Amino acid sequence: MTARPIIIDTDPGQDDAIAILMALASPELDVRAITTVAGNVPQPRVTDNSLSLVTLAEREDVPVYRGCSRPLVRKLYTAEYVHGPTGVDGADLPTPTVEAHPMHGVDAIIEACLDAGDEPITVCPLGPLTNIGMAIAKEPSILDGIREIVWMGGAFDEAGNTTPLAEFNAYVDPHAAHIVFSSGVPLTIMPLDVTHKALMVERHVEHLASIDRPAAQAAAGMVRFYERYDIDKYGIPGAPLHDPCVIAFLLEPSLFSGETGPIAIDHWNEATIGNTYRSEEEGVGRATVMSSVDADAFFDLVIERVGSL
Ligand code: RIB
Ligand code: CA
Repeated sequence: MTARPIIIDTDPGQDDAIAILMALASPELDVRAITTVAGNVPQPRVTDNSLSLVTLAEREDVPVYRGCSRPLVRKLYTAEYVHGPTGVDGADLPTPTVEAHPMHGVDAIIEACLDAGDEPITVCPLGPLTNIGMAIAKEPSILDGIREIVWMGGAFDEAGNTTPLAEFNAYVDPHAAHIVFSSGVPLTIMPLDVTHKALMVERHVEHLASIDRPAAQAAAGMVRFYERYDIDKYGIPGAPLHDPCVIAFLLEPSLFSGETGPIAIDHWNEATIGNTYRSEEEGVGRATVMSSVDADAFFDLVIERVGSL
Protein backbone atom coordinates (compact mmCIF):
# COMPACT_ATOMS: atom_id res chain seq x y z
CA MET A 1 0.00 0.00 0.00
CA THR A 2 1.47 3.37 -0.97
CA ALA A 3 1.00 5.89 1.82
CA ARG A 4 -1.05 8.98 0.86
CA PRO A 5 1.09 12.15 0.86
CA ILE A 6 -0.42 14.87 3.06
CA ILE A 7 0.48 18.25 4.52
CA ILE A 8 -1.09 19.25 7.84
CA ASP A 9 -1.56 23.01 8.27
CA THR A 10 -2.40 23.65 11.90
CA ASP A 11 -2.90 25.99 14.89
CA PRO A 12 -2.53 23.60 17.87
CA GLY A 13 -4.92 23.68 19.81
CA GLN A 14 -5.81 20.50 21.68
CA ASP A 15 -8.01 19.13 18.89
CA ASP A 16 -5.31 19.87 16.32
CA ALA A 17 -2.87 18.02 18.59
CA ILE A 18 -5.02 14.88 18.60
CA ALA A 19 -5.41 15.08 14.82
CA ILE A 20 -1.63 15.40 14.41
CA LEU A 21 -0.98 12.44 16.73
CA MET A 22 -3.54 10.37 14.80
CA ALA A 23 -1.86 11.18 11.48
CA LEU A 24 1.65 10.47 12.79
CA ALA A 25 0.41 7.09 14.06
CA SER A 26 -1.16 6.07 10.73
CA PRO A 27 1.00 4.21 8.18
CA GLU A 28 -1.64 4.95 5.51
CA LEU A 29 -0.52 8.59 5.62
CA ASP A 30 2.83 10.06 4.52
CA VAL A 31 2.99 13.33 6.47
CA ARG A 32 5.31 15.33 4.23
CA ALA A 33 5.15 18.50 6.38
CA ILE A 34 3.44 20.20 9.29
CA THR A 35 2.98 23.93 8.61
CA THR A 36 1.78 26.21 11.39
CA VAL A 37 -0.60 29.15 11.29
CA ALA A 38 -1.63 31.69 13.92
CA GLY A 39 -5.11 30.88 15.15
CA ASN A 40 -6.04 29.32 18.48
CA VAL A 41 -2.88 30.90 19.89
CA PRO A 42 -0.28 33.12 18.20
CA GLN A 43 3.09 32.30 16.71
CA PRO A 44 5.52 31.05 17.92
CA ARG A 45 3.33 28.95 20.25
CA VAL A 46 1.61 27.03 17.44
CA THR A 47 5.04 26.17 16.06
CA ASP A 48 6.48 25.21 19.46
CA ASN A 49 3.40 23.04 20.12
CA SER A 50 3.83 21.28 16.76
CA LEU A 51 7.51 20.59 17.53
CA SER A 52 6.51 19.15 20.92
CA LEU A 53 3.96 16.91 19.22
CA VAL A 54 6.39 15.36 16.71
CA THR A 55 8.70 14.81 19.69
CA LEU A 56 5.92 13.16 21.73
CA ALA A 57 5.05 10.91 18.77
CA GLU A 58 8.77 10.13 18.21
CA ARG A 59 8.27 11.36 14.63
CA GLU A 60 10.96 14.02 14.49
CA ASP A 61 11.45 12.91 10.87
CA VAL A 62 8.42 15.04 9.95
CA PRO A 63 9.54 18.63 9.27
CA VAL A 64 7.69 21.50 10.96
CA TYR A 65 7.60 24.88 9.18
CA ARG A 66 6.53 28.15 10.76
CA GLY A 67 3.81 29.82 8.66
CA CYS A 68 1.91 33.08 8.80
CA SER A 69 1.63 35.07 12.02
CA ARG A 70 -1.60 36.89 11.16
CA PRO A 71 -4.55 36.69 8.75
CA LEU A 72 -4.30 38.20 5.24
CA VAL A 73 -6.42 41.25 6.03
CA ARG A 74 -8.06 41.12 9.49
CA LYS A 75 -6.32 41.52 12.84
CA LEU A 76 -5.46 38.20 14.49
CA TYR A 77 -8.21 36.90 16.80
CA THR A 78 -7.11 34.07 19.11
CA ALA A 79 -8.93 31.58 21.37
CA GLU A 80 -7.04 31.25 24.64
CA TYR A 81 -10.49 31.37 26.27
CA VAL A 82 -11.03 27.86 24.86
CA HIS A 83 -7.53 26.36 24.64
CA GLY A 84 -5.71 28.08 27.53
CA PRO A 85 -2.61 30.31 27.26
CA THR A 86 -0.38 27.56 25.83
CA GLY A 87 -3.00 26.37 23.36
CA VAL A 88 -2.47 22.81 24.60
CA ASP A 89 -3.34 23.23 28.27
CA GLY A 90 -4.13 19.95 30.03
CA ALA A 91 -0.91 18.22 28.99
CA ASP A 92 2.78 18.74 29.72
CA LEU A 93 4.09 18.18 26.20
CA PRO A 94 7.79 17.30 25.92
CA THR A 95 10.41 19.93 25.20
CA PRO A 96 11.05 19.67 21.46
CA THR A 97 14.16 17.74 20.39
CA VAL A 98 14.03 19.43 16.95
CA GLU A 99 13.76 22.96 15.59
CA ALA A 100 11.46 24.35 12.93
CA HIS A 101 12.79 24.12 9.38
CA PRO A 102 14.16 27.52 8.22
CA MET A 103 11.84 27.68 5.18
CA HIS A 104 8.55 29.59 5.66
CA GLY A 105 5.44 27.41 5.84
CA VAL A 106 3.86 29.04 2.79
CA ASP A 107 6.97 28.29 0.73
CA ALA A 108 7.04 24.73 2.07
CA ILE A 109 3.46 24.22 0.85
CA ILE A 110 4.36 25.70 -2.55
CA GLU A 111 7.51 23.57 -2.88
CA ALA A 112 5.75 20.33 -1.87
CA CYS A 113 2.87 20.90 -4.32
CA LEU A 114 5.11 21.95 -7.23
CA ASP A 115 7.30 18.87 -6.64
CA ALA A 116 4.32 16.50 -6.21
CA GLY A 117 4.60 15.01 -9.72
CA ASP A 118 2.38 11.93 -10.02
CA GLU A 119 1.69 11.88 -6.26
CA PRO A 120 -0.52 14.94 -5.72
CA ILE A 121 -0.68 16.18 -2.14
CA THR A 122 -3.75 16.12 0.10
CA VAL A 123 -3.66 19.39 2.04
CA CYS A 124 -5.26 19.21 5.50
CA PRO A 125 -5.83 22.67 7.00
CA LEU A 126 -6.98 22.44 10.64
CA GLY A 127 -7.02 26.19 11.31
CA PRO A 128 -7.52 29.50 9.53
CA LEU A 129 -6.69 29.18 5.81
CA THR A 130 -4.08 31.96 5.80
CA ASN A 131 -1.12 29.83 4.64
CA ILE A 132 -3.14 28.06 1.95
CA GLY A 133 -4.65 31.29 0.62
CA MET A 134 -1.23 32.94 0.59
CA ALA A 135 0.31 29.95 -1.22
CA ILE A 136 -2.39 30.00 -3.93
CA ALA A 137 -2.02 33.76 -4.34
CA LYS A 138 1.77 33.51 -4.56
CA GLU A 139 1.90 30.51 -6.91
CA PRO A 140 -1.49 29.51 -8.46
CA SER A 141 0.13 26.61 -10.32
CA ILE A 142 0.37 24.68 -7.02
CA LEU A 143 -3.26 23.69 -7.66
CA ASP A 144 -1.98 21.13 -10.20
CA GLY A 145 -0.11 19.39 -7.38
CA ILE A 146 -3.04 19.24 -4.95
CA ARG A 147 -5.22 16.09 -4.93
CA GLU A 148 -7.74 17.79 -2.64
CA ILE A 149 -8.04 20.04 0.36
CA VAL A 150 -9.83 18.62 3.41
CA TRP A 151 -10.49 21.53 5.80
CA MET A 152 -12.01 21.68 9.24
CA GLY A 153 -13.96 24.91 9.24
CA GLY A 154 -17.19 26.72 8.59
CA ALA A 155 -20.76 26.25 9.71
CA PHE A 156 -23.58 25.79 7.20
CA ASP A 157 -26.84 24.63 8.79
CA GLU A 158 -25.28 24.95 12.28
CA ALA A 159 -24.75 28.17 14.26
CA GLY A 160 -21.25 29.53 14.54
CA ASN A 161 -19.02 29.08 17.59
CA THR A 162 -17.31 32.48 17.40
CA THR A 163 -20.21 34.65 16.26
CA PRO A 164 -23.78 33.41 15.80
CA LEU A 165 -22.94 32.89 12.12
CA ALA A 166 -19.20 32.19 11.98
CA GLU A 167 -17.04 29.24 12.98
CA PHE A 168 -13.58 30.17 14.35
CA ASN A 169 -11.31 29.13 11.43
CA ALA A 170 -13.60 30.87 8.93
CA TYR A 171 -13.98 33.94 11.17
CA VAL A 172 -10.24 34.46 11.72
CA ASP A 173 -9.35 34.58 8.02
CA PRO A 174 -12.40 34.75 5.71
CA HIS A 175 -10.34 36.37 2.94
CA ALA A 176 -7.98 33.40 2.75
CA ALA A 177 -11.01 31.10 2.79
CA HIS A 178 -12.50 33.03 -0.14
CA ILE A 179 -9.27 32.51 -2.12
CA VAL A 180 -9.40 28.76 -1.40
CA PHE A 181 -13.15 28.43 -2.10
CA SER A 182 -12.87 30.29 -5.42
CA SER A 183 -9.66 28.55 -6.58
CA GLY A 184 -11.45 25.54 -8.09
CA VAL A 185 -9.42 23.12 -5.95
CA PRO A 186 -11.22 19.86 -5.02
CA LEU A 187 -12.49 20.71 -1.53
CA THR A 188 -14.04 18.69 1.28
CA ILE A 189 -15.17 20.58 4.38
CA MET A 190 -15.70 19.29 7.92
CA PRO A 191 -17.86 22.09 9.38
CA LEU A 192 -19.47 22.38 12.80
CA ASP A 193 -22.49 20.65 11.21
CA VAL A 194 -20.55 17.38 11.49
CA THR A 195 -18.00 18.07 14.23
CA HIS A 196 -20.76 18.91 16.69
CA LYS A 197 -21.92 15.31 16.19
CA ALA A 198 -18.44 14.00 17.10
CA LEU A 199 -18.72 14.62 20.85
CA MET A 200 -16.00 13.00 22.97
CA VAL A 201 -18.13 11.84 25.91
CA GLU A 202 -16.96 10.46 29.25
CA ARG A 203 -16.59 6.83 28.16
CA HIS A 204 -14.33 7.86 25.28
CA VAL A 205 -12.14 10.02 27.51
CA GLU A 206 -11.94 7.29 30.16
CA HIS A 207 -10.95 4.75 27.49
CA LEU A 208 -8.17 7.04 26.27
CA ALA A 209 -7.05 7.78 29.84
CA SER A 210 -6.87 4.03 30.56
CA ILE A 211 -4.07 3.61 28.00
CA ASP A 212 -0.80 3.98 29.90
CA ARG A 213 1.25 5.50 27.10
CA PRO A 214 2.53 9.09 26.89
CA ALA A 215 0.54 10.20 23.82
CA ALA A 216 -2.74 8.74 25.10
CA GLN A 217 -2.21 10.31 28.51
CA ALA A 218 -1.40 13.69 26.95
CA ALA A 219 -4.46 13.47 24.69
CA ALA A 220 -6.77 12.58 27.59
CA GLY A 221 -5.40 15.48 29.64
CA MET A 222 -5.90 17.90 26.74
CA VAL A 223 -9.51 16.79 26.21
CA ARG A 224 -10.21 17.12 29.90
CA PHE A 225 -9.09 20.75 29.74
CA TYR A 226 -10.56 21.61 26.31
CA GLU A 227 -14.00 20.03 26.88
CA ARG A 228 -15.09 22.39 29.65
CA TYR A 229 -15.68 25.36 27.28
CA ASP A 230 -18.11 23.59 24.93
CA ILE A 231 -19.84 21.64 27.71
CA ASP A 232 -20.48 24.89 29.59
CA LYS A 233 -21.42 26.87 26.45
CA TYR A 234 -23.71 24.33 24.81
CA GLY A 235 -24.71 22.10 27.74
CA ILE A 236 -23.63 19.06 25.71
CA PRO A 237 -22.25 15.74 27.11
CA GLY A 238 -18.77 16.10 25.62
CA ALA A 239 -16.36 18.21 23.59
CA PRO A 240 -16.64 18.23 19.77
CA LEU A 241 -13.39 16.79 18.46
CA HIS A 242 -13.22 19.05 15.41
CA ASP A 243 -9.85 18.58 13.69
CA PRO A 244 -9.48 14.77 14.01
CA CYS A 245 -12.51 14.53 11.67
CA VAL A 246 -10.17 15.56 8.84
CA ILE A 247 -7.67 12.76 9.51
CA ALA A 248 -10.41 10.18 10.17
CA PHE A 249 -11.96 11.08 6.79
CA LEU A 250 -8.66 10.24 5.05
CA LEU A 251 -8.40 6.94 6.92
CA GLU A 252 -12.05 5.84 6.76
CA PRO A 253 -14.11 8.13 4.45
CA SER A 254 -17.22 5.95 4.83
CA LEU A 255 -17.63 7.24 8.39
CA PHE A 256 -18.79 10.57 6.95
CA SER A 257 -21.48 11.76 4.56
CA GLY A 258 -22.52 15.10 3.14
CA GLU A 259 -23.51 16.98 -0.01
CA THR A 260 -21.56 18.58 -2.84
CA GLY A 261 -22.54 21.97 -4.17
CA PRO A 262 -21.71 25.67 -4.58
CA ILE A 263 -20.48 27.51 -1.46
CA ALA A 264 -19.40 30.98 -0.43
CA ILE A 265 -18.08 32.88 2.60
CA ASP A 266 -18.92 36.40 3.74
CA HIS A 267 -15.65 38.35 3.78
CA TRP A 268 -16.78 41.95 3.53
CA ASN A 269 -19.72 42.73 5.87
CA GLU A 270 -18.54 42.98 9.51
CA ALA A 271 -21.95 41.84 10.75
CA THR A 272 -21.79 38.51 8.90
CA ILE A 273 -18.07 38.05 8.26
CA GLY A 274 -16.94 34.43 8.29
CA ASN A 275 -20.43 33.13 7.57
CA THR A 276 -20.15 30.11 5.23
CA TYR A 277 -23.16 29.13 3.14
CA ARG A 278 -24.44 27.16 0.17
CA SER A 279 -25.68 29.25 -2.74
CA GLU A 280 -26.44 28.54 -6.40
CA GLU A 281 -26.46 32.29 -7.08
CA GLU A 282 -23.53 33.46 -4.94
CA GLY A 283 -21.44 30.31 -4.79
CA VAL A 284 -17.79 31.01 -5.71
CA GLY A 285 -16.64 27.42 -5.64
CA ARG A 286 -17.85 23.88 -5.00
CA ALA A 287 -17.22 21.68 -1.99
CA THR A 288 -18.38 18.47 -0.40
CA VAL A 289 -19.77 19.70 2.93
CA MET A 290 -19.95 16.90 5.48
CA SER A 291 -22.95 16.78 7.81
CA SER A 292 -22.98 13.34 9.48
CA VAL A 293 -20.54 10.95 11.09
CA ASP A 294 -20.62 7.50 12.70
CA ALA A 295 -19.45 8.92 16.05
CA ASP A 296 -18.73 5.62 17.83
CA ALA A 297 -16.63 4.30 14.95
CA PHE A 298 -14.91 7.68 14.73
CA PHE A 299 -13.83 7.60 18.38
CA ASP A 300 -12.78 3.96 18.12
CA LEU A 301 -10.43 5.09 15.32
CA VAL A 302 -9.15 8.13 17.23
CA ILE A 303 -8.42 6.09 20.36
CA GLU A 304 -6.90 3.16 18.44
CA ARG A 305 -4.46 5.41 16.56
CA VAL A 306 -3.47 7.79 19.35
CA GLY A 307 -3.26 4.86 21.76
CA SER A 308 -0.83 3.07 19.46
CA LEU A 309 1.90 5.71 19.80
O1 RIB B 1 -13.96 25.94 15.33
C1 RIB B 1 -13.10 24.88 15.65
C2 RIB B 1 -11.79 25.06 14.97
O2 RIB B 1 -11.16 26.27 15.42
C3 RIB B 1 -10.78 23.94 15.32
O3 RIB B 1 -9.89 23.78 14.26
C4 RIB B 1 -10.08 24.50 16.52
O4 RIB B 1 -8.76 23.93 16.68
C5 RIB B 1 -9.96 25.94 16.12
O5 RIB B 1 -8.83 26.09 15.25
CA1 CA C 1 -7.48 23.96 14.71
